[in-house]
Amino acid sequence: CQLQSQVLKEISVLARIMARRNVLITGCSSGIGLALAVKMAKDEQKRFKVYATMRNLAKKEPLEEAAGHRLGKTLEIKQLDVCDEQSIKTCVNSIPDRRIDVLVSNAGMGLIGPIECQTIDEMKTVMDTNFFGLVRLLKEILPDMKRRKSGHIVIISSVMGIQGILFNDVYAASKFAVEGFCESLAIQALKFKLQLSLIEPGPVVTEFERKVFEDGMKMDLSAADEETAEMFTNIYLKNYKQIFQSLGQSAEDVAEIILAENPPFRHQTNTLYTPMTTLKYADPNGDLPIDIFYKMVFQHDKIFSASLNFIKLLRWRSRKSFDLGKPSQ
Ligand SMILES: NC(=O)c1ccc[n+]([C@@H]2O[C@H](COP(=O)([O-])OP(=O)(O)OC[C@H]3O[C@@H](n4cnc5c(N)ncnc54)[C@H](OP(=O)(O)O)[C@@H]3O)[C@@H](O)[C@H]2O)c1
Repeated sequence: CQLQSQVLKEISVLARIMARRNVLITGCSSGIGLALAVKMAKDEQKRFKVYATMRNLAKKEPLEEAAGHRLGKTLEIKQLDVCDEQSIKTCVNSIPDRRIDVLVSNAGMGLIGPIECQTIDEMKTVMDTNFFGLVRLLKEILPDMKRRKSGHIVIISSVMGIQGILFNDVYAASKFAVEGFCESLAIQALKFKLQLSLIEPGPVVTEFERKVFEDGMKMDLSAADEETAEMFTNIYLKNYKQIFQSLGQSAEDVAEIILAENPPFRHQTNTLYTPMTTLKYADPNGDLPIDIFYKMVFQHDKIFSASLNFIKLLRWRSRKSFDLGKPSQ
């Protein structure tokens, strides 16, 4: 009888492990990827086996620390560069039966500034990472998902995938490309019972914000005319930090929303930012958001800045009990 109960216990553990979903996440050296990998690995119901990937394994320490004792159990770290087809193949081949139930395409990079001051090579790197990185992943992983007729593809896009922002021309273009690509693919995916979810965060306080700001500060603006250079330095960069401080979510907030929700096709994570994107849908001609952004930046900049400060104060006073980014019940 004791043996029987022991066998039953082992079968139930085995069944749980077999039902566990394999999750592959790209770009886990920092930010949203790291937070999501840890959150999923620490899931109380142990629903996931997380393959947390990064292009440079020398950067794995923060993830190892955050994962703690889940490392080697519900979380494994693997090398994957989304710009390198062979690295994607090697990583996928190393996963038992190549079975990936949930793919989170998160790796990405930003680029700000006047286009006159950016090289075509810099722009191509952004497109190669943010857009072709996703395409390469899917070329390797989608056929297996189609064959199994199951799988969930989660893509970390951005609010800039639906609305452009001053001095983010190429970054927004890369995320628009992601959105168009996924919108087309989603129709085919449905035929194979696959789910596609575009996650559209607003500003998130991560390495991304720091790297993009530092690159902007170092940018050689000599190729731009005086008015453009002045606009970039004294309007855009001056307000950059304030926007992140007032409206920014944490990577953990975004991770929690992704995990808690069964996301629909498009899911904006930051409700403070939603009024801006709503403008796009309010005017099919597209003039309204451009006009409002123009006025906000060039005519009513003091009111804009005061509003950001007011939001920051409200969030500080409510000590984050403010329901930032969480959809209302
Ligand atoms: N932060 C925001 O405000 C914000 C807002 C909306 C959307 N997003 C999107 O959210 C995603 C994650 O960004 P984050 O905010 O978490 O920034 P992050 O902390 O800078 O993380 C970006 C991750 O992508 C990785 N990466 C870059 N190029 C890669 C490549 N070729 N192959 C594999 N990994 C690569 C980075 O690795 P390295 O450490 O090696 O560079 C890093 O792990 C991005 O797609 C970004 O566009 C961010």
